[in-house]
Amino acid sequence: MDRLRSLLFLLPLLQLSAAQSTTAPAVPAYTPPPGSPGFYHGNSSAAVTFDQQSLFLDNKRLFVFSGEFHPWRLPSGPEAWRDVLEKMKAAGFNSVSVYHHWGVTEPKQGDLNFGNFRSQGDFYQVAKEVGILVMARPGPYINAETTAGGFPGWTTNLAAKARTNATEWTNAWTPYLSNSAKAATPFQYPAGPIITVQAENEFVVSTPSDPGRSEAMVLVENNLRNNGITKVPITHNDPGTNGRYAHGLGMVDWYMWDGYPNGFLCASPSQWSEVRSDLIQEHMSIDPAEPWAAGEFQGGSFDPWGGSGYQQCYQLTGEEFANVFYKNNYASGIVYQNLYMTFGGTNWGNLPEPTVYTSYDYGAPIKEDRTLTPKYSEIKLQSHFLHASPDILVSTPVAAGTNFTNNANVYTTLLSGAPSGANFYVVRQTTNTNTSPVSFKLNINTAQGALTVPQFGSNITLAGRESKILVSNYQFGSSQLLYSTAEVNLTWFTMEKTDTIVLYALPGQQIEVVLPNITSNALSTQGSSSVTAKISNKSLIITGSPSGTTFIKAGSTSIIVADKFTARTFWNPKVDTKTTPYDVAPDVASVLVSGPYLVRNASISGPVLALRGDLNETTTLEVLAPASIKGVTWNGAPVVALPTAQGTLKCVLPFTLKKPTLPSLKSLQWACTDSLPEVQPGFDDSTWVVANKTTTNRPPQYQPFSGKFLLYADEYGFHQGNTLYRGHFKGANATGVKLAVEGGFNFGYSAWINSHFLFSNNGTNQYSANGGTNQVNDTLTFPAGSLTSGDNILTVVLDPTGLEEDFDGQDEHKTPRGIRGYELLGGGDFDSWKIIGNFGGESAPDKVRAHLPGFSTKGWSSGASCNPLTTGLSAAGIKAFRTSFNLNLPVGSDIPVALNFTRIPSSRHRSAIFINGWQFGRFSSADGPQTLFPLPDGILNSRGNNELLITLWSLDAPGAEFADVELVSTAVVQSSKRRFQEVS
Ligand code: GAL
Repeated sequence: MDRLRSLLFLLPLLQLSAAQSTTAPAVPAYTPPPGSPGFYHGNSSAAVTFDQQSLFLDNKRLFVFSGEFHPWRLPSGPEAWRDVLEKMKAAGFNSVSVYHHWGVTEPKQGDLNFGNFRSQGDFYQVAKEVGILVMARPGPYINAETTAGGFPGWTTNLAAKARTNATEWTNAWTPYLSNSAKAATPFQYPAGPIITVQAENEFVVSTPSDPGRSEAMVLVENNLRNNGITKVPITHNDPGTNGRYAHGLGMVDWYMWDGYPNGFLCASPSQWSEVRSDLIQEHMSIDPAEPWAAGEFQGGSFDPWGGSGYQQCYQLTGEEFANVFYKNNYASGIVYQNLYMTFGGTNWGNLPEPTVYTSYDYGAPIKEDRTLTPKYSEIKLQSHFLHASPDILVSTPVAAGTNFTNNANVYTTLLSGAPSGANFYVVRQTTNTNTSPVSFKLNINTAQGALTVPQFGSNITLAGRESKILVSNYQFGSSQLLYSTAEVNLTWFTMEKTDTIVLYALPGQQIEVVLPNITSNALSTQGSSSVTAKISNKSLIITGSPSGTTFIKAGSTSIIVADKFTARTFWNPKVDTKTTPYDVAPDVASVLVSGPYLVRNASISGPVLALRGDLNETTTLEVLAPASIKGVTWNGAPVVALPTAQGTLKCVLPFTLKKPTLPSLKSLQWACTDSLPEVQPGFDDSTWVVANKTTTNRPPQYQPFSGKFLLYADEYGFHQGNTLYRGHFKGANATGVKLAVEGGFNFGYSAWINSHFLFSNNGTNQYSANGGTNQVNDTLTFPAGSLTSGDNILTVVLDPTGLEEDFDGQDEHKTPRGIRGYELLGGGDFDSWKIIGNFGGESAPDKVRAHLPGFSTKGWSSGASCNPLTTGLSAAGIKAFRTSFNLNLPVGSDIPVALNFTRIPSSRHRSAIFINGWQFGRFSSADGPQTLFPLPDGILNSRGNNELLITLWSLDAPGAEFADVELVSTAVVQSSKRRFQEVS
């Protein structure tokens, strides 16, 4: 440890001499820190161990390439989870990280429900079947842009400060966490896929002014261990590289940090921050005895109400970002990387907290409709390279700087130290402010001495936003690259005694690759002539500018060179059944497949290679498989694959699907009803909850502003969705009312006195000029003649945007929701208040979808006046429109369907969308940005009847109408996914 530390402290000196240095420093001796827990390699009989360089599974080193996925954001259930996990695995993710959600699991204290989309065990089982490792993150706090950061709403009413060791708080989370741990216990590696369990999330430590944190962390860890998490390390996710829980009280087995370098401002999608050159120094000062691990690293960005939309978030964190920033992680010695999010999903129901809207697409590599992006393909290139290069796990960053090249605009980090002598040069732009291409020559160390490359051809180039990992002394099977200025793609593998490696570069870039010790003069080149090869002085020299695919064979070494876009279409499914399904090393038998949109997996049975995958167009399939393979099946059906000169099998896979014609909403039969009968004269609120509390346990900053009664919805068991208030007062003297209403960014409310509409407020955006506000103070004047001398009723309907997260641990989730203060103007006071919120409150009757389908439309109107495409509202108020439609999407298709609104930013209207009883969208015409609402398969019945309900809430007296709403398909994929069973 100390040797490694001192070595890294020499970095600045090494930078000066790096170009001349020819020997990589030895890997420092392994020294577990005193009192270290039981997972240190060589110190433990556990199946999951680690030393300071990497994780080991079954004594084999592994780069953990993980992606974040929240099953509760895809409630279609296990088959939908399988689809996402198969897609992740196909891209080379060998691990999935999963937050579980205490709030949705225990909506009422003591009433735990681990069924359906809340099932942790079902998720682990699917992961096990798919063969992808799991990092389990049950919280109890998760953050995650979900309401109350994952806490149940009822915790807002507890007196104890959350995330401390206060007994009331410990008692609150204990049943949930104990049961979560018990669900994970049987799935710990090697019995199941779980390799780590995270305690808490982004947690502060105890200080004299903020005690009880580290002690709470100990309680969380003890709970996990006492409930059976003993076979895998317990980790923590530190916000940034701050070293929390790497040492001292509450120290975890394995420290991890998170990083979101480009932030979350999707409005400036091409504005990058700089990559960090100091990460390795951070590692040395925080946890040099452990593998350097990013428990979360930016996979995209969330987007707030009124934000720029996920296309821009994708742009901010797209394939170029993935290329540059992730490679910088590898340059800093990261051997565990979890991309948050890899599939984001949907904040359906009332999952979001106030800074996010319904979609949690996140600009992630796999989109909300489960389709794949170019970023997914970029990541596939990287994950396969890392799996193919186990030497990187035993290499350390030994030198870095701008003096490796002849261009100061190029920054290089050298990783070396592997016994094989391999060197990895991670090159990037010195500053991200430079977005122009740079060209250079690189000084490298090779088995043939120091070289400046390229030796023969044109310079290496980096595009404006590009990073490359170039190698020297790179062993693959019995072959070696002396060096390569093209990147190593996917893998290398040895098939029938031939070592095959795949190399790539962007179109237009020149490459130079040299393989030493070529003993035979037999050389063949097939395919694209953009790259040429020659043998000179027992070296194979490959030069050119890749375009398409070139196949070069010299003796028993085969080199496939492709341009990067072609390389992205390659898949490398493992066909070995002897190793564990999690083993991704290059010595595990595999085949190389190019062409299809997705290749989920492959297996060999006798002379037949069976491929499972998806297509989005007619595709040429090309397969490099052992010569014993004579036939290929695609999704179970034989295809006529003919041998090619380059030794592959080739055929065309026809795409036969057409874009479906979906029902036109305008032509359907609709029923409708007034959805705000509460403002009609004579409305009976006798079954509502009496809001008669006068005090609250909340901290001083969350006390009410004014009024005799406490009107926070959560205090009465309503933690989500629309809330209605009826304030009763007597007499016609009052002139108006002052209201302080709090609902989170972009919340909305409307108020009526008796049946007279008074006023609406649509809240403000997080990014608005005043910095946004959760809360508004309004004075509402009662119009003449609106009061009676008897009972008067003020009705307030509120659309909150979720409970705050408790990011800072200061009980922010206890921020009030509802009416925070009130005062009747002109004399008198309210006698009583009634409140109602989501159906059933904490005891909502439907435990599956949290909403009820099949709600009777008895008494609803029908006919032309109920068609939301032709009639809206002519006054402030809320109206519900309901219809049903049939779908008959073809068997074997994956055709995501969405509801698409046309937005009128000048119109203040809001809508909730219910599909088959599930609330799958909240639309705000004034705020946006979301207009496209995916209705996921499984929630939607793609071959049967569906019930759609849309509300229209006009916040303004003239009323409002929809510009347009339509059903659209967002992709047409011929898919081998299993059918998602409709959740009923
Ligand atoms: C992290 C946090 C996650 C999520 C993310 C931003 O700091 O751990 O839960 O909130 O930020 O999407």
